[in-house]
Amino acid sequence: MTRTTAIPTAAIILAAGKGTRMKSELPKVMHQVGGFPMVVHAMSQALAAGCSPLCLVIAQGMHQVVSVGRGLVEDVLIATQTEQLGTGHAVLAARESLADFEGNLLVLYGDTPLVTAETMAKLNEVILSDPRCAVAVLGFTPTNPVEYGRLVVSSGELERIVEARDATAEEKNITLCNSGVLALRGHVAWEFLNRIENNNSKGEYYLTDIVGIARAAGYTARVVEADAEEVLGVNSRGELAQAEAIFQRRTRAAHMANGVTLIDPETVYFSADTTLEPDVLIEPNVFFGTGVAVATGAHIKAFSHLEGCVVGAGSSVGPFARLRPGTNLGEKVKIGNFVELKKAEIEDGVKISHLSYIGDATIGMDANIGAGTITCNYDGYNKYRTTIGKDVFVGSNTALVAPLTIGAGAIIAAGSVVTEDVAPDALALARTRQQQKEDWAIGFRERAEEIKATKKK
Ligand code: UD1
Ligand code: CA
Repeated sequence: MTRTTAIPTAAIILAAGKGTRMKSELPKVMHQVGGFPMVVHAMSQALAAGCSPLCLVIAQGMHQVVSVGRGLVEDVLIATQTEQLGTGHAVLAARESLADFEGNLLVLYGDTPLVTAETMAKLNEVILSDPRCAVAVLGFTPTNPVEYGRLVVSSGELERIVEARDATAEEKNITLCNSGVLALRGHVAWEFLNRIENNNSKGEYYLTDIVGIARAAGYTARVVEADAEEVLGVNSRGELAQAEAIFQRRTRAAHMANGVTLIDPETVYFSADTTLEPDVLIEPNVFFGTGVAVATGAHIKAFSHLEGCVVGAGSSVGPFARLRPGTNLGEKVKIGNFVELKKAEIEDGVKISHLSYIGDATIGMDANIGAGTITCNYDGYNKYRTTIGKDVFVGSNTALVAPLTIGAGAIIAAGSVVTEDVAPDALALARTRQQQKEDWAIGFRERAEEIKATKKK
């Protein structure tokens, strides 16, 4: 979903927290859901909601996060929060980067990867449609609200947000909680953010105090409610797995709604960027790494693993096939069981039906690659290409020692070790000639029986 509004909205993604409970060398927001760092989900949904620019707030030394930000879109701004003094302080860290920006602000958390573009747009809409509203907070009702900030609402307006540790017993009974995501009216936002103080039990600058500040200035604050699943924050590996499960469930449903058949949806795993056209059929236990596109009518059979590849229309893959990055299958290609492909251009109508490794290769239209064919692409130092022409027939158990070119229409005899180029339409035999010794077996058996008889005596 792409939205364009007259007043632009910048998204500020908070990602400076350490995330100690992950027990990891990696910054928390770099842990992956659906094959991509959590922070990338927040950024790509913000983009889909029409936010621009995006500003990522990180702590010093989080160079991994900087690179992912830059990799996604050209103009991700990176702001560094030198000390982690609270969420209010973190948002202010983005101010310099957004000095030239005039518009509303959407605050997101890098560790909350499941908030959708629709919800972000809804929150923004509240600010756009009500000129008195300066803060729109995304609220939810968790099953266990212990640690969350409570939303104190009266007659449809948000009065204030009270952090759990600062809440009275009565306030702790409130079940509507703060997800952390909120939208702010641009022209007053920075001024209000500057007024936030740190006189609370934690000595932190609470972003949530902006509600009270906005109301004191004559503005209102409102709540938009979200499903608890959508605002799940990830603090531990357990929650990371929970987020993954929710992501997978959603993604399966979305692909099925788009016309893809999943025989056993629960057993198929997707990446956030998996592209499937209608009428793709996927059998149980298939894993899609990042960068996979499958065209209409293709059939992915059970226990296949695909990553960084394109599967053309009407092709069939698996069962038990492995498609590695740089593999492009044309139309009506057949890849059978225990076939591994890497950096391979496989043209229309090619068949590689059993037990083969094809890497750094181009295979021309309608070629047939026999069982047990191996492209020997690596000599321990360098990789070399194998180029196979149209209509080539490679016999079973053939080793193709690259660099190698096999001309169109050639036939390679089974069991060959091919080290030299083969001319078009030629037959290449590269194996020792068979010998035959007449009646040799009879003599062999007679000698063996004699020895056996001697031993018994
Ligand atoms: C915050 C909210 C709370 C809400 C909860 C939802 C405040 C004061 N409280 O609490 O009402 O229910 O989120 O999960 O806002 N961060 C920085 N720099 C900082 C501090 C935090 O970048 O100095 C980032 C963290 O990386 C994280 C997010 O802000 O992505 C939230 O910080 P966290 O410390 O987890 O806030 P909570 O105490 O959980
Ligand atoms: Ca938190």
